[in-house]
Formats: sequence, C-alpha cells, structure tokens
Amino acid sequence: MSLRIIQLSDPHLSATRPFHQDNWEQVLEALAADPPDLIIVTGDVVLSDPDEEDDHGFARRQLDRLPGPWRVLPGNHDIGDNLVSGGMAKRVDPQRLRRWHRHFGEDRWSLTLDGWLLLGINAQILNAPRLAAEAEQAAWLEAVLAKTDPAAPVALFLHKPLFMDHPSETAMDQSSLDLEARNGVMAMLAGRDLRLVASGHKHQWRGFDLDGVRHVWAPSTASVNGAPTAKNWGLREVGFVEHQLEGRRTRQRLLGRDWLTRHESYVVSLEHGSPMRAPILSASAAGVEPAGGQSGMR
Ligand SMILES: [Fe+2]
Ligand SMILES: [Fe+2]
Repeated sequence: MSLRIIQLSDPHLSATRPFHQDNWEQVLEALAADPPDLIIVTGDVVLSDPDEEDDHGFARRQLDRLPGPWRVLPGNHDIGDNLVSGGMAKRVDPQRLRRWHRHFGEDRWSLTLDGWLLLGINAQILNAPRLAAEAEQAAWLEAVLAKTDPAAPVALFLHKPLFMDHPSETAMDQSSLDLEARNGVMAMLAGRDLRLVASGHKHQWRGFDLDGVRHVWAPSTASVNGAPTAKNWGLREVGFVEHQLEGRRTRQRLLGRDWLTRHESYVVSLEHGSPMRAPILSASAAGVEPAGGQSGMR
C-alpha cells in the first residue's frame, strides 16, 4: 500500500488581485478528478501582504474547496518573515500569528498515516527566541516525538527549505532557514528515521538526496519569481508535487508544469512596483467568488 500526498505551495491567492486564480481553479479540477489521500499546502497562501485580512479570509475559503483532507502551514507572506534571516519589511509577530490562527487554525500539525509520521512545522518562527510561539512549537514537537513510534519513517513539511545546498552553510539568506534555525530542527529530529523534507517558498522545483534524506522543493502553483537572470537552484517553473510514500521510500512527480500558466511575479512587480500596488478589482468584478463569499467556510 502506498500513500499518495499532493503538495501544493505558494498559491498566493487574493479575491481582489486574482493574478493566480486561473491556476488555482485548474489545480482544484485536477485534484477533484483524482483525489489524493492528503493535500498539504506549504504556505504563502495569501497574495503578498501578511496584514491584508481579506486575502486571509479568501485564501481560507479557497482551501475549503480542496477535494479531500488537507493541512496547511504558514509562509512569510502569511505571517511575516523570519526575525533573523528574513528579507521582507514585515516580520513575524504575535498579532500576525493570531491572524493566522483566526483564519486557518493551527500553524503546525502531526499525522500518523500508513506507518509514516508526517510533521508540519511553522518555519517562520524558528530562531525567534523572543516569540513564545517558538518554544511552544518545540515543546509540542518534543511531545509528538515522545509518543510516536521511534522507528517510523518521518516526512517533514515546512515553508522554507532547511538550507540551499548544504546544512553546513552559514550565509543568512531569506531563501532558506538560517544555521541556528536549521540546527534546532535537526537536533529535535536526531535519532529519528527522517526520509523526506518538503518545502516551498522558492517557486522552483528541485529534488536531491543527502545523507539518506530526500529534499524536495515544491514549485508554486501561482507563479515564478525573480528576474530571469537571477540565480536559480532548481527549475523555474510552476506546478505542484505528487509524493508517493511506500515502505520507507518516497517518490515524487512534478504535475501541472505543462498545463498551468507560468505567471511571472517579476513582470507584475515591474509594472506596479509590487503586487499590492496593482489596481484592486471587486470580488464580483474579478469573478472569483460569489457576492458574500462565505459559503465554503467551515
Ligand atoms: Fe511564495
Ligand atoms: Fe515564501
């Protein structure tokens, strides 16, 4: 028996600036036609601004349309960027965390399925000792690990990659966790059979094995980022990932690359300065949601 998980990442949704809604609708259709066992959304669910309350509400209603069980994790655009290594002006804080909890519930989760331990953690609060949420997450993870089978294969999901090329790197880069944050996570998982680390954030598709762990970067369902001349580590394409978990092995497939529209956030930023400066459409004019728009809320 194998477990089939679909990982969606970085859908960057907004009712009033629906740049990526066309792709979201197509992803929903594809999943409805072939529902997986579980759908995991690894962050950046809102368009851009972590304080745009309406985008959070809209993104939640869009997640409620997913055809099957789902879990979500926050990204830098949802709750602000990491305190030490972040690049955005808006950083994670208690108020933004509360907004996440209000709209999406928990910012971390664990599941035991088919003998696998699936862990989802909030990457944005790592190496942030002045936030109580970091210590709370660490205590929660310790408790989860204490009560689960120590021999179970583990798959870890989070918004940002643990590192870019190697866990020893020390550069502060908004693209991945910093050394302290990464070491903290790895220390907690020491001795466990970690098999898969699946992240989003980079809007690139990449997969490699290191010390028995497969690292997978899910591309965005929404867009590619950055100028075409910027350094890319993986494939600068849109899409989403199918993970097959069987025994202690995982296999991945990139889906949607050939039928989703490859929107360029870079071009939107050239045009408007940032996506949040683009003109606002009313939700009904945008045609993405019926007036009122609350029907899918649980
Ligand atoms: Fe993103
Ligand atoms: Fe991100």
